[in-house]
Formats: sequence, C-alpha cells, structure tokens
Amino acid sequence: MEKPKDIDKIVSPMKVNLSKNTHIYNEHALISAKVTVLRDVNTPSSTFRAVVEEITKLMAFDALSHLTLEETTITTPICNTVGDKIAGKKMVLVPIIRAGLAMEPAMKDVVPQARTGFCGIYRDEETLEPVPYYWKMPKDIENRSVFILDPMLATGGSINYTIKKLKSIGCKSIHVMSIIAAPQGVDLIQTFHPEVEMYIAHLDEGLNRYGYIVPGLGDAGDRIYGTK
Ligand code: PRP
Ligand code: URA
Repeated sequence: MEKPKDIDKIVSPMKVNLSKNTHIYNEHALISAKVTVLRDVNTPSSTFRAVVEEITKLMAFDALSHLTLEETTITTPICNTVGDKIAGKKMVLVPIIRAGLAMEPAMKDVVPQARTGFCGIYRDEETLEPVPYYWKMPKDIENRSVFILDPMLATGGSINYTIKKLKSIGCKSIHVMSIIAAPQGVDLIQTFHPEVEMYIAHLDEGLNRYGYIVPGLGDAGDRIYGTK
C-alpha cells in the first residue's frame, strides 16, 4: 500500500491528566534516547527488537519494585544471612500478539519463574476496533499478579479488551507495560480501569486519521517482524 501523504498529521491531539497509577518516563534520559532509536524509520528489525527488550527491562526496574517479598535464609561464602525472595504465586505475563511478544523475553529474563498467557488481537484497519482471535491463560490466573505487555497503546481498544477479559475471569491485580502511548489510550484505560497500574516509556502527542500514534514509530508488529 502506498504511504498516504498525510500519515504524519495529527488530527486528534489531546491533553490527558495523568492519574497516580500512570507512570510515564518521557523525562528519563536513557529511555528517551532508546525510544528515539525505535522511532527512526532506518532502524532495522534486529536492532528494533533488541531495543524493545532493553526498554522493557528498564521499565521493569520500576514496574516490579513493589513485588511482595518474603525472607529466606541462605549461606554466603562468609556466613549465614537472611535475604529476600519474591513471595506468593508466580506472576503472569500477558503479551498481546503480535507486538507484545517482543517484550515477553525481557520480562522472563528478570523474572524467570513468571508464567505466560497469550492474547491474540488485531485492530480492524477501518473501524479501529479490536478483533480478538486467540486466548490462552495459565490456570489459577485470578490469584496472580498480571502484566499485560504491548508496545503500543493507541486508541486503547486492544488493551481495554484484554483488561475486561482478565477481569471477567476474576483477575484483580492487573498492570500494563507499553512503550509508546497516545493520550486517547491512556485516558480510556484510566477512565474504565482506574486501579490498573500503567508503565509507559513515552507519552506521545495524539493519533492521526488512521489511528496511528504521532510521532509514534509506525506499526510495531511490522517493525518487529519485518512484515508490511
Ligand atoms: C497494534 C499494537 C496494539 C494495537 C494498539 O496491533 O500492537 O495491539 O495495535 O492499537 P489500539 O490501542 O488502537 O487498540 P495490530 O492491530 O497492528 O496487530 P499486530 O501486532 O498483530 O499487527
Ligand atoms: N498500532 C501500532 O502498531 N502503531 C500505532 O501507531 C498504532 C497502533
């Protein structure tokens, strides 16, 4: 498909009041520099995937800082001591297929014991409505902390669908990790799911008439997998 000439025009800029549960890293120097690499149309897929993983790990530093810990006794080469280990049931990562899959290995690197559930959704190009096609979650998910992974939060339709479906099966502790968000998507999730903690590397200006984030990075799935 030929690139429309006005693809970069914002038709709906928006200001959103951020809630205390929305964590944005626009001011973080390292994250900001890495987001710029993702935005660059000349960045190849291999670099794109590597940088998605790096940003995900940087955000994990904050997103996972409040995990409940329990004491564990260990022996160092010097003496016995009491340390911490992550308490409770193993957390569940829920990447939204396709693009969210690129964030999952980074989270598994830092929390190897996490389980993974899969949510397949694509966005209808005309209506921008989410079209679900796959759902496979670990058993007992309702008693676990859940982290939805999707690099792009645009209209918010895909993540809103995923949160609603997780709530409908009893999940109570739900978090979202995204790399780029439009104010429209942030506003939607804050309005309908105010208790959900969101971690977003960069809040952008708005959406263009095709529902793409501006300045954004284009279609994340295509950039990650080299499809068009
Ligand atoms: C992209 C992206 C999100 C969704 C965001 O997926 O990875 O899932 O769009 O848009 P929204 O906030 O307006 O719902 P896409 O539909 O391109 O599917 P794909 O990754 O399988 O190509
Ligand atoms: N999905 C993407 O991959 N990119 C956008 O800008 C919006 C939705």
